[in-house]
Amino acid sequence: MAYNLLKGKKGIITGALDENSIAWQVALRAHEEGAQFVLTNAPVAMRMGKINELAEKCKTIVIPADATSLEDIEKLYTQTAEHLGGNLDFLLHSIGMSPNVRKGKTYGDLNYDWFQKTLDISALSFHKMMQVAEKMDFFNEWASVVGLSYIAAQRTYPDYSDMAQAKAMLESIARSYGQRLGRNKKVRVNTISQSPTKTTAGSGISGFDVFFDYAEMLSPLGNATSAECADYILSLFSDLTRKVTMQNLFHDGGFSTSGITEELVEKLSK
Ligand SMILES: NC(=O)c1ccc[n+]([C@@H]2O[C@H](COP(=O)([O-])OP(=O)(O)OC[C@H]3O[C@@H](n4cnc5c(N)ncnc54)[C@H](O)[C@@H]3O)[C@@H](O)[C@H]2O)c1
Repeated sequence: MAYNLLKGKKGIITGALDENSIAWQVALRAHEEGAQFVLTNAPVAMRMGKINELAEKCKTIVIPADATSLEDIEKLYTQTAEHLGGNLDFLLHSIGMSPNVRKGKTYGDLNYDWFQKTLDISALSFHKMMQVAEKMDFFNEWASVVGLSYIAAQRTYPDYSDMAQAKAMLESIARSYGQRLGRNKKVRVNTISQSPTKTTAGSGISGFDVFFDYAEMLSPLGNATSAECADYILSLFSDLTRKVTMQNLFHDGGFSTSGITEELVEKLSK
């Protein structure tokens, strides 16, 4: 159901690769809610994914940009301003990738050049997108910035590897930049810590199916889907959450505060 929550708002949505992507669902819902936005992804993703299909559905354009490149981000903002005819009311950072995870390196055998790539792609790019926007004075007052995190920032999941450090950094950047942008421009910055979700990034983690099922069992409301995550993100882009900032918000069906459940006790007692 649409509520016109984002009517008149302009934004950028990163990270939509295919229909499983969290960002894909956000784009569909933002379009339904009356927002105008531009889609962007890494140039290499243009070939791999189906983002042009999504752009057609949302009646918008795709501007390729590598989120680790300041130059690409600047170009992205200049072209977005031209296309939308105004500055940003919302920005979704939905970007994550670890070469170490992708190439199956164990935590005791990390390649440090790749580790830095993990941090650059998955965390520093969040800072870069805000810094460039601040320098170009590209945020409107009361704009909302959202990044996507995972509970591995607080607790250890062996196969999540160096992505855990990237998520801890991402959440920290949300607090530091949230304070700065809040004071200077009344912009809010938050991260959403999402349930395991079956997407390209998610399924790249080995043992993903097991911790998906485990989280499902431990969450009283069950795992949150990408469509449900999109709904939550829209609420943060809307004017209904203007004083929510510098938070890491768990969107996980109750997983993060559950110890054990009767269902698990029963299963493990057998
Ligand atoms: N899937 C999960 O279980 C889960 C859980 C919690 C948080 N998250 C986070 O949600 C976000 C979105 O991931 P997803 O699950 O939708 O998977 P996804 O693979 O669909 O999205 C990840 C996106 O990052 C993009 N990307 C990678 N390198 C880039 C670069 N240099 N510049 C620009 N874009 C780049 C990819 O092209 C892709 O579109 C990520 O931050 C991920 O860590 C995912």
